[in-house]
Amino acid sequence: MLFNELIITRQSDRKYIKKAVEKNKLIQCIEAARLAPSASNSQPWTFVIVSEIKLLKEVAQASVGPLRSFNNFVKQANVVVALVMEKPKIITELGGHIKKKEYPLIDIGIAAEHFCLQAAELGLGTCMVGWFDEQKVMDLLQIPESKNIPLLITLGYTPDNYKQRKKIRKPLKKIVRFNNYLTE
Ligand SMILES: Cc1cc2nc3c(=O)[nH]c(=O)nc-3n(C[C@H](O)[C@H](O)[C@H](O)COP(=O)(O)O)c2cc1C
Repeated sequence: MLFNELIITRQSDRKYIKKAVEKNKLIQCIEAARLAPSASNSQPWTFVIVSEIKLLKEVAQASVGPLRSFNNFVKQANVVVALVMEKPKIITELGGHIKKKEYPLIDIGIAAEHFCLQAAELGLGTCMVGWFDEQKVMDLLQIPESKNIPLLITLGYTPDNYKQRKKIRKPLKKIVRFNNYLTE
C-alpha cells in the first residue's frame, strides 16, 4: 500500500469481530513502534500486550466513560496494548526540564502511530484510547506506580461491512502558514 493510501486507510475502528489477531502480525505492529524515532533515541516505552480474555474484559471496563456508550467498544477488541511511558535518558529529561517539553509523551505518540499504520497495512483495525481509568489499568497490569500509561491501543479485525469513513479534518488553508504565523 502506498503511504498516502495507508494514512487514509488508518482510522479509529470501534467495531471488531471475534477473529483472533495472528501473533506474527501483532509482533510486526510492535516492531513498527519499536523503530519509531524518539528524543535522544531514549525509546521511553514498554508495550504491555493484553490478550487474556478476563484481563481484556477488566481493561475494557476501565475504559468506559461516564456516558456508558463512550469507549464501550473496547471490550470487542481482540488485543489491547498499553503504552507505558518509561523514564527517558537523563539528557532528555534535563532537556525537557530546560525546554519545558515532555519529550517522552511526544515519543509515545509517534510510536503509537507507527503501530496503527502498520496494523492498517496488515488489514487490522486499531483505535487509540486516551480516556480510561489509568490507576485501574496500572493495577490490573501490575505497572509500577512511578510510571504512566498515556495511551491504550485496541487491535482487532473489523467486520467486512465496516466502512472506511471520510476523514473530517480542518482544511489545509486553515492550518498552514508560510514563514510567518500571522500571514495566511
Ligand atoms: C491521543 C488520542 C486519544 C484518543 N482517545 C480516544 C478515546 O478515548 N476513545 C475513542 O473512541 N477515540 C479516541 N481517539 C481517536 C480520535 O477520536 C480519532 O483519532 C479522531 O477522531 C480522528 O479520527 P480517525 O482516527 O478515524 O481518523 C484518540 C485519539 C488520539 C490521538
